[in-house]
Amino acid sequence: MSFIPVSEPLLNGNEKKYLNDCIDSGWISSEGPYVTKFEEQFAAKMGRKYGVAVCNGSAAIDAAVLVLGIGKGDEVIMPTFTIISCAAAVIRAGAKPVLVDADPITWNMDINQVEDKINKNTKAIMAVHIYGLPVDMDPLQKLAEKHGLYIIEDAAEMHGQTYKGKPCGSFGDISTFSFYANKHITTGEGGMILTDDEALAEKCRSLRNLCFVANKRFIHHELGFNFRMTNLQGAMGLAQLERLDEFVQIKRNMGAKYTALLKGIEQITLPVEHTHYADNIYWVYGVMVKAGYGLNAEIIMARLAKEKIGTRPFFWNMHEQPVFNEMGLFRNEKYPVAENMARMGFYLPGGMALTNGQIETVTEKVKSVLQ
Ligand SMILES: Cc1ncc(COP(=O)(O)O)c(C=O)c1O
Repeated sequence: MSFIPVSEPLLNGNEKKYLNDCIDSGWISSEGPYVTKFEEQFAAKMGRKYGVAVCNGSAAIDAAVLVLGIGKGDEVIMPTFTIISCAAAVIRAGAKPVLVDADPITWNMDINQVEDKINKNTKAIMAVHIYGLPVDMDPLQKLAEKHGLYIIEDAAEMHGQTYKGKPCGSFGDISTFSFYANKHITTGEGGMILTDDEALAEKCRSLRNLCFVANKRFIHHELGFNFRMTNLQGAMGLAQLERLDEFVQIKRNMGAKYTALLKGIEQITLPVEHTHYADNIYWVYGVMVKAGYGLNAEIIMARLAKEKIGTRPFFWNMHEQPVFNEMGLFRNEKYPVAENMARMGFYLPGGMALTNGQIETVTEKVKSVLQ
């Protein structure tokens, strides 16, 4: 049996055709028609006015934080259970991330802990949709309105997901996506910023392109970055976007099949299929080892690796990151739900190209290594 990787994309639509177009036309850097087409069509699909494509999802968060003017003395509330890009962007902007624990059912930030963390320095709430189910946005939006806060929505993992029927990525003052190869749609590396605010979109465009000024090239009044997406990536993105609905269905079928085959195994908890506001989109199919069996994610993942099954651990929490603790951040903070998730959770192969046969093999191996 050959190794089953944790994620493999499906690139058999118009990807080659559009990429050949770039090569034939010579438009391979960030100028060329595909970036704009991808931005416009992606924004439209997510119900937003403006899309600004960038080089990856982490850069998208950096830009989002900066264009909202978040900086020294400001605080941004976010989940401890997330990728480092979220906290790093806030710290790089000179502001302070303020953490909340996770919800044990959806694995998203526990929205009941947010209001207690709001003070006069709070500028924004960063809502990060985790693994397949969105954050419960209604209560968060009410809090943001009540306290005059921005919402930065990190929808990196949530292409095609909805919250109460409205697309994820349409909730933030500014929303961000990633198109890394394990995402529902991929450009290899890539990201997107969405907003309905023209001025914010314009600032993002400037920031991603070194803050060049239109008619005075090479004279700069502000510092920017080269966060540009290439036309090659835009071409891939457009081809992938054409299949987003199909890809969402593939992932939902995958999730349903895993759940049907793994249901009833007493040592592990499976992802929640739906909440009152969304059906799981299974960006990844995460499972958690239950306490009391003398097992943890690391042990099970090592056993599965021997059986040629690729897995990944859950995120490691922000308050437990050596890099932040050494900066004096989050020391002695405790978030027990997220701490348990980081130690007991991992995810199974779940890429777009995964076959039903591979899902069956994975589940058999999971059962055998849990014995
Ligand atoms: C929630 C979340 N935010 C941001 C990112 C960063 O995206 P990228 O890897 O494109 O920088 C990821 C990546 O997986 C993510 O899961």
